[in-house]
Amino acid sequence: MKLLVILAIAFMVSCKKADNNQVNLSTTSPNGNIKVKLQLNKEGRPYYLVHFKNKIVADTSFLGFEFTDAKALSKNLEITGANVTNFNETWQMPWGEQLDVVNHYNELKVELEEITELKRKLNIVFRVYNDGIGFRYEFPQQPSWAEARIKEEHTEFNLTQDYKTFWIPGDWDIYEHLYSTTKLSEIDAKSYIEKTNLAQTYIPENAVNTPVTMVGEDGVHLSFHEAALLDYSGMTLKVDTENLNLKSHLVGSENTDYKVKRSLPFNTPWRTIQITNSAPELIESNLIVNLNESNKLGDVSWFTPMKYTGVWWEMHLGKSTWDYGMEMIDGQWTDIGKAHGKHGATTENVKRFIDFSAKNNIKGVLVEGWNTGWERWIGFEDREGVFDFVTPYPDYDLDAVTSYAKEKGVEIIMHHETSAATQTYEKQQDTAYALMQHYGMHAVKSGYVGKIIPKGEYHHGQYMVNQYNNAAIKAAKYEVAVNAHEPIKATGLRRTYPNIISREGLRGQEFNAWSTDGGNPPEHLPIVAFTRMLAGPIDFTPGIFNIKFDEYKADNQVNTTLAQQLALYVVIYSPVQMAADLVEHYEANPEPLQFIKDVGVDWEESKVLNGAVGDYVTIARKERGTGHWFVGGITDENSRTIALDFSFLDADGMYEAKIYKDGKNAHWDDNPLAIDIEKIELNSTSKISINLAEGGGFAISLKKL
Ligand code: NOJ
Ligand code: CA
Repeated sequence: MKLLVILAIAFMVSCKKADNNQVNLSTTSPNGNIKVKLQLNKEGRPYYLVHFKNKIVADTSFLGFEFTDAKALSKNLEITGANVTNFNETWQMPWGEQLDVVNHYNELKVELEEITELKRKLNIVFRVYNDGIGFRYEFPQQPSWAEARIKEEHTEFNLTQDYKTFWIPGDWDIYEHLYSTTKLSEIDAKSYIEKTNLAQTYIPENAVNTPVTMVGEDGVHLSFHEAALLDYSGMTLKVDTENLNLKSHLVGSENTDYKVKRSLPFNTPWRTIQITNSAPELIESNLIVNLNESNKLGDVSWFTPMKYTGVWWEMHLGKSTWDYGMEMIDGQWTDIGKAHGKHGATTENVKRFIDFSAKNNIKGVLVEGWNTGWERWIGFEDREGVFDFVTPYPDYDLDAVTSYAKEKGVEIIMHHETSAATQTYEKQQDTAYALMQHYGMHAVKSGYVGKIIPKGEYHHGQYMVNQYNNAAIKAAKYEVAVNAHEPIKATGLRRTYPNIISREGLRGQEFNAWSTDGGNPPEHLPIVAFTRMLAGPIDFTPGIFNIKFDEYKADNQVNTTLAQQLALYVVIYSPVQMAADLVEHYEANPEPLQFIKDVGVDWEESKVLNGAVGDYVTIARKERGTGHWFVGGITDENSRTIALDFSFLDADGMYEAKIYKDGKNAHWDDNPLAIDIEKIELNSTSKISINLAEGGGFAISLKKL
């Protein structure tokens, strides 16, 4: 790995007590556009301000903590030291949206100490990049403070405009909500309580989850999130709609009076604001990964990015089931001859997926419902001791399936639905990952459906943050990569632990199969691209060709055109990308299938060509190894014409472009299958325009001739 580090200490100030109010501690982004200042008020309360191009983005925003077993740490502080440093490196992603990532920032570190009797110390560190800022608290080692029990973190973002805001509620249990678009002053997270009928949900405050994205009338784009969430609770942002102020509100637990417990020394996660002039720059921002530490796993080439198919959509459609029909007798799952014959994960069915994948340049096959326990899954209170992660159902021959897959050059993707029964999963992790290693399986999809057991814990609290992170760190020892569903949010940890490959953490495709509220509306993904996707890779599971699937579910459908389903392979980034539909639906549509066959899944470069949050977006990505380019564009419920300029292509030579676009009169509801496929030749000076239907999109593959 190429690593270039320039570390220059710019200056160092050490301040005397009397100077406190005069000291103006600040730094700027390398290009000078963003400026951050930290100050203390007369009471010794720390606050910060953020300027973007000389306009205030965050005005006087206070910082501090409340504890359950000690006085709050938010005033009576003095500055005991400060320094500004500059850092510039280029690091490489082992897999990702791009190969080289520039990590260039100025850092301001301020050391504070209480002037009152406890004399506790706290550091605040700001990193200011061209695409935004991150700051965190450091609790340094100190003689009379061994452990912090945090009741609440009081980090403010005191905003200066009533931004157009794209948000989901600050649910302590799940991110699977539709986004709302309102003014900041009109956010009403509690209105979601009645709207949801999810397996788990808890919305205690008028708070939003992150990433939350805002667009100002002056064109400023902001997105608030966090980076490097380790051994801490997830952060929601409580909204003061009158004063346009956001305040951290950590996810808690009913089992403890604190929200976070940590031994000193420790650092909090980074609190982040991406700040750009345009929507495309938000997606191109690397702030979140850059704020994470470098790779701790070393070589992870045992995991290769891949497209995959699987025994999955058929269960969501009701064609087959996860369960087989067994009963638990004396603590053992027992085949009592009740098999209903609709079990999906049979040896025979999986072989069909293996054959199809091998034929179509798809490397993985996911198998859900292969193991015992599904008879007592959703709706059961007592889920500990139910799922078994090493024992297959009687009609699934793990040996036969894995050796057949190997013969065909395909890899089986493991599935662990933990049903949020954390102790059962924890106990079995070593044996379960060792089983995978034995069979040469290098990726697991895990699931955490249902209320967390132990009772009183929430999916996004410190207890679960540790569950998700520890599972991934353990899995790495067995050369296993993790794609968690019902996860904690992505915070760029994939840089440090590159076996954290993808995750759900949004309303995925599955909602189109069974939700009772009409599925994901056409605006969903044009919002997701500028909100959830800023956090990290998404296992959305695109590629549904049988858009209406009336033969399975007359009242459900996918609310996009077929061409948009193809576009998603480029627009949504993930190193594992599912071809989610049934084999028979692909076999009936060989022409659009060609795009899934061709499209890359690991990128050397990504360029966001255009876009507006919630409306549309076009992304071009260059495949690693081949140099082929792929372009995808999607729109919301409005049709539009997109002008494309191919200046991103190599300056020399011609490319063969295969264009898959909405056909005449295509429409997500009235005519979703109308698709036009054409071949043309293009070069870097070419310009074309493409019409996108309502809920439509387009995909282009470009091969150099
Ligand atoms: C929810 C996941 O999101 C879905 O993909 C999976 O099929 C089910 N849980 C079963 O684990
Ligand atoms: Ca889910």
